[in-house]
Amino acid sequence: MMAAALNALYEAERVRIAALFGACDRENPVFGEGPMDARLMFIGEAPGGEEAKSGHPFVGTAGKTFSRLLEAAEIAREEVFITNAVKFRPVHVKEKSVSNRTPKPDEVLASLPLLRQELLIVRPHVVATLGNTPLCAVLKLAGQKAVTIGAVHGTRISLLLEGFSFVLFPLYHPASTIYNRALTETLAADLTLLNALLKER
Ligand code: URA
Repeated sequence: MMAAALNALYEAERVRIAALFGACDRENPVFGEGPMDARLMFIGEAPGGEEAKSGHPFVGTAGKTFSRLLEAAEIAREEVFITNAVKFRPVHVKEKSVSNRTPKPDEVLASLPLLRQELLIVRPHVVATLGNTPLCAVLKLAGQKAVTIGAVHGTRISLLLEGFSFVLFPLYHPASTIYNRALTETLAADLTLLNALLKER
């Protein structure tokens, strides 16, 4: 029932994305995955190349790092719902290469209605955002001002979205640990705190 509602929204998003003109992979959107009764939802930024190819979120290099860190924190990946703020892969196209880019503010804004629906359908107790893009997206949906990940990672922020209350738990994006090794320990420690939070609720 809930899964059917979400799938209908994903099909509508597929049509919206197919009509986009900006540089993005219009043909291979990646939607949320996981149990509909998940108590924890992770929200990433946008799919990359491996995700677009496979149709699944967080399966590329950052996804493998993410899975490893989840396992170390004893959080079962199959028990969580994983989605992205933006469901298509934003790209830079050069003459001989195609690379990932950060989604533009208007692309994130246009993706908010679907993210709002995912939150209202799955209703997780805890929403863990990965990086700045989904952090600001969730805060915007809840009518709150943007903050930076450096100031709030690993902390609990109580939010209300149309009568649905949940705890936002901001995390660094797993890809940031690839460029900044020191963040691996920070993200690992924050995931341990997240597991403790889940046990309380
Ligand atoms: N990075 C993201 O933010 N999402 C993915 O699905 C993969 C990499």
